[in-house]
Amino acid sequence: MRKEPAGDFDYEIGGQGYSSIRRPEPRFADEIRRALGDARSLINVGAGAGSYEPTDMDVTPIEPSASMRAQRPSHLTPAIDAVAEELPFADKVFDAALATVTIHQWRDLATGLAELRRVTRGNVVIMTFDPEELEKFWLGEFSPALMTYEAGRMPALAKVTELLGGTSHVKNLPIPFDCEDGFAESYFGRPEAFLDERVRRSQSAWGFLSNEDEIAAVRALQTGLDDGSWDARHGHLRRQHEYHGALRLITALP
Ligand SMILES: C[S@@+](CC[C@H](N)C(=O)[O-])C[C@H]1O[C@@H](n2cnc3c(N)ncnc32)[C@H](O)[C@@H]1O
Repeated sequence: MRKEPAGDFDYEIGGQGYSSIRRPEPRFADEIRRALGDARSLINVGAGAGSYEPTDMDVTPIEPSASMRAQRPSHLTPAIDAVAEELPFADKVFDAALATVTIHQWRDLATGLAELRRVTRGNVVIMTFDPEELEKFWLGEFSPALMTYEAGRMPALAKVTELLGGTSHVKNLPIPFDCEDGFAESYFGRPEAFLDERVRRSQSAWGFLSNEDEIAAVRALQTGLDDGSWDARHGHLRRQHEYHGALRLITALP
């Protein structure tokens, strides 16, 4: 096991229940598969428990956390223990590269993205969040520190596309009401979910709050739900079938 986590969050301590809450959302998986086009070989960096890994491609998953590697289902290829910043491959050996919900955690974004580009002949596909949009999410009313911190972790989209070079296309991915992947905005219309500790533990941002701040945020939300003020402000979201939030799919061509 690594002495230090490869990213900004320690999944050996906080990642055990990840795969039970953070399941791949089929609508995002379809978008990702389309963006990968007719590529045959794929490197998936920060692969975690294997969400969004196509099963009809020759996939090489890279995942530095032992706890996350252990949560990969048996039908997926076991992941190689390596980091984005130092990929153990020659130049241009993969048709395409994928990185979902991971680049904000890397220690050195520029080096990691340069490595993705270096080992890939074709499209580099990245699912990430737009920090400007993320800060607007209603959860920030109950814990400003949480959403400010989370937005601060996310690189600006323009920086990501600039670092990748070539030509990029950025697509807004609407989040369905019943989104299977339990990141914060996926509960846009299901606020009670944040009262469940298992949900919070599968969202790394909560790990950066003190216990007191987390308890205060959960109490404030509970009060807002009990006294009807959440519903007065945001109740329409309970009936909204999708949410246009911060989730983006970047497809970078060489
Ligand atoms: C939120 S999880 C996402 C996992 C998976 N891609 C998904 O969509 O569910 C972020 C993953 O990035 C990995 N990670 C963090 N820093 C990394 C780095 N420098 N290089 C490669 N992976 C890293 C973590 O170990 C973790 O498994």
